[in-house]
Amino acid sequence: MAQLNSPEELETFRQELLSKRDPSAPCISVCAGAGCVASGADAVIAAFKAEIEKEGLTAKVDTKGTGCPGFCERGPVVVIYPEEICYLQVTAEDVPEIVSQTIKANKTVERLLYQDPVTGERAVRESDIPFYKNQKRRLLCSNIKIDSKSIDDYLSIGGYSALSKALFQLTDVGFL
Ligand code: FES
Repeated sequence: MAQLNSPEELETFRQELLSKRDPSAPCISVCAGAGCVASGADAVIAAFKAEIEKEGLTAKVDTKGTGCPGFCERGPVVVIYPEEICYLQVTAEDVPEIVSQTIKANKTVERLLYQDPVTGERAVRESDIPFYKNQKRRLLCSNIKIDSKSIDDYLSIGGYSALSKALFQLTDVGFL
């Protein structure tokens, strides 16, 4: 990555990143928080990457290990965007079925959806799950959209803005 010397150059770089991204393209987000990693998320992420490559979908489908969306007791949690299809307690063995059914055939895998313990109803989207329904995520609302190992993801959501402006100002006055 080229050295950036001003907030304006950073913003230009950010716009270039955004221009290469298609928000309507499928993105498989696997929680890579501590709880899900303890439940096998690393193997799930590796299985998705391998299956997507095997199916020749690498250029069309993004796979990310993201921050924790909060439903740790039901991890590993997988959310597939842009539809926001949420699968719980996913294992590496479930991955070929998710890719063939959800990514390729646009169908849900019923047994991996949240099931209401009283009504037995399934919730397809993450925001339809009672645990999330009455929550408004504020402080960590973007951690589920970025791969924690990708600076490009962080920049593309504008996560740098306040910090970068402060750093450039400190540089300008010779503090850094
Ligand atoms: S660690 Fe995965 S949902 Fe919290």
